[in-house]
Amino acid sequence: MAGRRRVVLLLVVVAAAFLVAATSAGRATRGKSARFELLRLAPAASLPDLARMDRERMAFISSRRASARRRAEETASAFAMPLSSGAYTGTGQYFVRFRVGTPAQPFLLVADTGSDLTWVKCHRAAAASKNASSYSHPAAAASPRRTFHPDKSRTWAPISCSSATCKESLPFSLAACSTPANPCAYDYRYKDGSAARGTVGTDSATIALASGRAAPAPRNKAKLSGVVLGCTTAYNGESFLASDGVLSLGYSNVSFASHAASRFGGRFSYCLVDHLAPRNATSYLTFGPNPAFSSPPPLESTASCKPAPAPAPADAHGARQTPLVLDHRTRPFYAVTVRGVSVAGELLKIPRAVWDVDQGGGAILDSGTSLTVLARPAYRAVVAALSKRLAGVPRVAMDPFDYCYNWTSPSTGGDLDVALPMLAVHFAGSARLEPPAKSYVIDAAPGVKCIGLQEAPWPGLSVIGNILQQEHLWEYDLKNRRLRFKRSRCTH
Ligand SMILES: *[C@@H]1O[C@H](CO)[C@@H](O)[C@H](O)[C@H]1NC(C)=O
Ligand SMILES: *[C@@H]1O[C@H](CO)[C@@H](O)[C@H](O)[C@H]1NC(C)=O
Ligand SMILES: *[C@@H]1O[C@H](CO)[C@@H](O)[C@H](O)[C@H]1NC(C)=O
Ligand SMILES: *[C@@H]1O[C@H](CO)[C@@H](O)[C@H](O)[C@H]1NC(C)=O
Repeated sequence: MAGRRRVVLLLVVVAAAFLVAATSAGRATRGKSARFELLRLAPAASLPDLARMDRERMAFISSRRASARRRAEETASAFAMPLSSGAYTGTGQYFVRFRVGTPAQPFLLVADTGSDLTWVKCHRAAAASKNASSYSHPAAAASPRRTFHPDKSRTWAPISCSSATCKESLPFSLAACSTPANPCAYDYRYKDGSAARGTVGTDSATIALASGRAAPAPRNKAKLSGVVLGCTTAYNGESFLASDGVLSLGYSNVSFASHAASRFGGRFSYCLVDHLAPRNATSYLTFGPNPAFSSPPPLESTASCKPAPAPAPADAHGARQTPLVLDHRTRPFYAVTVRGVSVAGELLKIPRAVWDVDQGGGAILDSGTSLTVLARPAYRAVVAALSKRLAGVPRVAMDPFDYCYNWTSPSTGGDLDVALPMLAVHFAGSARLEPPAKSYVIDAAPGVKCIGLQEAPWPGLSVIGNILQQEHLWEYDLKNRRLRFKRSRCTH
């Protein structure tokens, strides 16, 4: 009985995830994103033993530890934050753990390449949001509520509304500034209608330094200072019920990604586990060089990510690459040049304008959007090609999808054994994204699979969402304006 209940609950969660995904698709691009979980830092070794030592010895040890830490900070070229699917909350996002303030306060944030403001729910927001359906929503119950207490952080520094930073550098700040000393305010709107309001400051984030391996050494921590942080005192939108805020990974002077990448190798990377993976299946969001791209392919036993058999063209590490288009017209989004889409090896007839920003099209990669959204001409062509090859399978209706199939075999009652057509997205530079079939013919309910794409109006942007990105390692090389990717199970 308990087992059955769990299955039913899972279904609800999965269905909810897709509904939310659909809404996020509607808003196109801002907002939804992945979540990162920062490493749990192991406590310093054997404190009771230290307590028994004499003062002199303790001083000696602590000064050695301090200098060891300084050395680690000087030599570390990367840091990493564990990342996992938020499917258990029904949100279709990925989350990371993020520690900010001194002493550090821990949060669970949506990792969003479509955002340029990092924010956390702030102390006063607790009362403001104790409202509406928030608390009765299953997503709210799925995660404990945490709020940032700026007054408890020694390193929190409000930005005043009269400062140049507020007026010129923060694209999301409000103009209102009745008293020069007032804090810099924002009203950040997402395309799905959700919003976050509050005031902005800077604070230090606690990071776990990595040293040549994918997994960071948990005790090797450091501070990243001057992180622009929004203290959100009011928000609305279901996207934010299961998380404590948003980590901005967009391309912008003030985003966390740009700030951290400017200190760590000019790049960041992430590996997205299967979006239906349990919450304990974690991968990493890494700032600085990722060993999976920058060092020779590791031996199987130490592989941080196991590459699938790599078709050409690929570099020495099995990675494909294409230019990142960091254009002011698409900022803070990461745009890529799509050359075409093929299904079962057949290149589809899609007008070039669909992929061209100059003609009202263009494509971006977004960790915060779940379902891939294609502008109408591309959507129609892709769905027609996929559904043609699934014509023998009985259809069922399931919102928000246009094409769903009863995947139950009448003879066995089990999974239907049908070969799924292969989909490939062709990028400039001959790089091909060949996602696993489950990333575009997705499990929507037991025995039901749907073509997991959404239609966007034309003209308009197309968005490569996080489900299509799953089980791949993605590197955003901001310094060299390159996107690298390769297949990976995201185990480490
Ligand atoms: C509840 O939400 C509504 C609209 O979202 C808002 O107008 C109202 O002020 C909120 N109530 C509280 C107590 O914050
Ligand atoms: C943002 O950075 C660019 C260089 O990357 C610089 O040209 C521009 O002035 C900066 N904008 C603001 C508002 O600071
Ligand atoms: C996650 O937890 C389950 C039990 O709850 C366990 O069976 C599984 O091995 C864990 N997976 C990982 C990746 O730790
Ligand atoms: C799928 O088909 C089977 C019979 O083959 C039927 O029992 C089941 O109810 C159908 N599922 C849906 C969702 O329609």
